[in-house]
Formats: sequence, structure tokens, C-alpha cells
Amino acid sequence: MTPDLMESGAQRFAKSHGIVLAEQTESGGRSAGYGRPTVQGEVDVAHGRILYLEDVNVSFDGFKAINKLSLDIAPGELRCIIGPNGAGKTTMMDIITGKTRPDSGTVYFGSTIDLLRHKEAEIAQLGIGRKFQKPTVFEQLTVFENLELALKTDKGVKPSMFFQLDSAQSDRLAEVLQTIHLAASVNRMAGLLSHGQKQWLEIGMLLMQDPKLLLLDEPVAGMTDEETARTAELFLTLKGKHSLMVVEHDMSFIRTISEIVTVLCDGSVLAQGTLDEVQADERVIEVYLGR
Ligand SMILES: Nc1ncnc2c1ncn2[C@@H]1O[C@H](COP(=O)(O)OP(=O)(O)OP(=O)(O)O)[C@@H](O)[C@H]1O
Ligand SMILES: [Mg+2]
Repeated sequence: MTPDLMESGAQRFAKSHGIVLAEQTESGGRSAGYGRPTVQGEVDVAHGRILYLEDVNVSFDGFKAINKLSLDIAPGELRCIIGPNGAGKTTMMDIITGKTRPDSGTVYFGSTIDLLRHKEAEIAQLGIGRKFQKPTVFEQLTVFENLELALKTDKGVKPSMFFQLDSAQSDRLAEVLQTIHLAASVNRMAGLLSHGQKQWLEIGMLLMQDPKLLLLDEPVAGMTDEETARTAELFLTLKGKHSLMVVEHDMSFIRTISEIVTVLCDGSVLAQGTLDEVQADERVIEVYLGR
């Protein structure tokens, strides 16, 4: 099939499923991939990757924030990303979630979904949840109401005035409450929670949408040691059911949760391996961990 035919096929499919394709990107000097756009629930991981970045580049005013970045993540994997300030960790998440468009490169979700053809809201709908550093819960609402609200933003749900949880959604909410250790605080105003609990609530709000991939940017910053330990437990329970990409500077936290650690520096992968392996790498010691 010619690229033209595939392109028109992709557009027809998108139209019939109510998906708006982004403007064509310029990855590699051609319009980006002709992969079939997919509705939520279908992510093709037959090739053993939930996320795939190849040769991604982004410049801000001539400064290369992301430089030939290639990386992939397996389904159910918990990948840790470390690296010095300004390495491009947050920018990488901006690219995956459609907040920033790369100048060139390939970014796939599973083997068929070209993320560069989707807008930020669509990418969230496709099953990629993102947690920013600062907790953004609704302080005036209860824990329950915050979790309920996370469902209301889901497309296809009845208008919010008439919104009522169905039994599957109630079950999901109860399960998420247990997972995030907030069952005992279900009717508590979110504003009264500790910093760590707010972070967990926000993760819970993401979990309500049952994301395939969760991107977490410095999730334990500002947490107490006990909260950090509980967050490590939480991530270990999420692993397998979801794929996780965790950016952190807290090395003892990374040690508790990590399998493969990727070290970013100057917008590309400097080293990758177990924490022990990357900590022993001279280049990593030089730029990040210090002597
Ligand atoms: N929108 C933007 N405009 C201009 N420069 C930007 C923009 N976003 C990021 N940068 C620059 O790109 C580089 C990478 O920033 P980024 O925030 O991705 O680093 P980081 O690895 O997340 O660092 P940190 O560990 O401090 O959070 C930095 O030099 C930053 O100043
Ligand atoms: Mg950052």
C-alpha cells in the first residue's frame, strides 16, 4: 500500500472513531508514520514496547534541550530516569504527552500509535497519565469527590450535573482508595491532607482513568521519609499493571524501586543499566553523582 493510501485510511479510521489527527510532523524529513490510530484500550505491544522514542530532537532558541534521544520502555516496566538539572527529563515528558512538539524524531505508544500525530488531550485519552511535581488536587473537595471528578473529565461520560458512578466505577474508586492508602480519609477535604497524601491522591486521580503508562516527575520531592517509603511501595504495586516512567533525584528512593535506570544528560541517554551499573560508570560520576 502506498503511503498516500495508508494516510487516507488512517484519516478515515480516525474520523469514524472521533479522533482528531494532529498536523503532520516532520520527523525524519517525511510525514510521521502511517500507523493506525487507535481508540483507548487498544495499545499494540506485540513488539514488546509500550513506549518508543527514536532520534528525537528539540531546540529552544538554538539550545538543544533534547539531542538524538532514543529510548524504549517495556509493558509493565518501572523505568527510572535520573540525570543532572537541565538534562531534558521534564522536556522528554513534555514531548511524550504532546505538550512540546519535537523538531524531528519518532515517538510511538505501542507499535501503532504515533504520538506526534496527537494532541495533548488525546494522548491522555489514549492512556498516558502524567503527574507533575506540584500536587494539583481540588483542595475544597473531599478525597472521594476528587477521585470522582477524575472520571468526569473522561470523554463520553454524561454531563457532570447528572453524573453518577456506575457500579464498575464505584468498584474502581474503592480499589484506587486502597491502592493509594487513603480509604480512611475518603471524606476528608483534600486541602487538609499532608503533602504526601495530596501526591497520592493525584496519582489516584490518574489511576481512575486506568492509564497504560504513567509519567511521574519527581514524585517524592518534599515528602517525609515515611511518605517516600510508602510511595515506593505504591509504585511497586502499580508496576506490571501499568508501565511507569519515574524521574527522581532521590537515589535511595530509586534504589528501592528501580530495575533499569536511564541516565539522561544534555538531552540524550548517557548510560543505562542497574543502579549499581550506572553509579559505577565514570561518565555518570563525572556529570551527576559526583566523586
Ligand atoms: N519551554 C522552554 N523554553 C526554553 N527552554 C526550555 C524550555 N523547556 C526547557 N527548557 C530548557 O531545556 C533544558 C532542559 O530542561 P528540563 O526542564 O527538561 O530539565 P530537567 O532534566 O527536567 O531538569 P531538572 O532536574 O532541574 O528538573 C533546560 O536548559 C531548560 O532551561
Ligand atoms: Mg525537570
